[in-house]
Amino acid sequence: MRVLNFGSLNLDHVYHVSHFPQPGETLSAAGYGVHLGGKGFNQSVAMARAGLSVCHAGCIGGDGLALREFLVDNGVDVSLLQTVAAPTGHAVIEVDQQGQNRILLYGGANLQVDAAYIDSVLSQFSPGDVLVLQNEISCLSTLVEKAVQRGLRIVLNPSPIGPQLTPQLIAQAEYLILNELEGGALSEQSQPLPCLRALLARCPHSKIVLTLGEAGAFYADEGRVLHQRAMAAEAVDTSAAGDTFTGFFLGGLFSGQPVEAALRIAAQAAAIAVSRPGAAESIPLLGEVSAFF
Ligand code: RIB
Repeated sequence: MRVLNFGSLNLDHVYHVSHFPQPGETLSAAGYGVHLGGKGFNQSVAMARAGLSVCHAGCIGGDGLALREFLVDNGVDVSLLQTVAAPTGHAVIEVDQQGQNRILLYGGANLQVDAAYIDSVLSQFSPGDVLVLQNEISCLSTLVEKAVQRGLRIVLNPSPIGPQLTPQLIAQAEYLILNELEGGALSEQSQPLPCLRALLARCPHSKIVLTLGEAGAFYADEGRVLHQRAMAAEAVDTSAAGDTFTGFFLGGLFSGQPVEAALRIAAQAAAIAVSRPGAAESIPLLGEVSAFF
């Protein structure tokens, strides 16, 4: 079984702010830096650091070569990554003094994914291989449709929420991994258990992981509901905490661990990630996670 992550790669422009500005307010940032990110990119780094072999497909512009190099340095297969004639996607991220963030995305090269590229990438994969997806690239529904026809197993992190995420598309996910905001938007339920029930009613064959920040995470499938508590951490920057959780959860799961163990290591890795600045740079190595806890 091979793992393909077909997802976004972004340059993150990160501004440290005392508070999130109100409409009409001008605020000076206390700090600024450019970091490597993108939900797809972060999740590939997290899966690789969790010990999984992963191939990353997606598009960057000529200004995004550092993203390719970082994936290579982390052991991710980039042979299917495409460089296109568009600027690399970017994100404007505000991080406040509590480590909470607000993210504005510009898709750029991530929106150059088209049917021809999807065909060429999927032709390298076979039934039973796993396709990990987020919602920051173009042609997501085409990609899911073609992957399902090819017999790939779908893991979907429906983030950010958008109109592309139709009920039909979401129902194709074997694993649906989402946070409370995304769960609320898709289920129209604000409480975790009703949210999980509503999502399972819509996707009865899916396994659902609902992350809740400091309240931990729930896992639910047809037969059971599990809860994983969050690990204590002093939040410096929550960017990529969800991506770290997803990558380590999948790393645990696809290396043969039971769901309970995969949830635990995911929570541990995410706790370390929030205690460090940046997105991909904040993701720990598997050895660091074991040593820390
Ligand atoms: O999940 C965090 C990521 O969201 C950032 O790295 C940013 O690029 C956006 O995609």
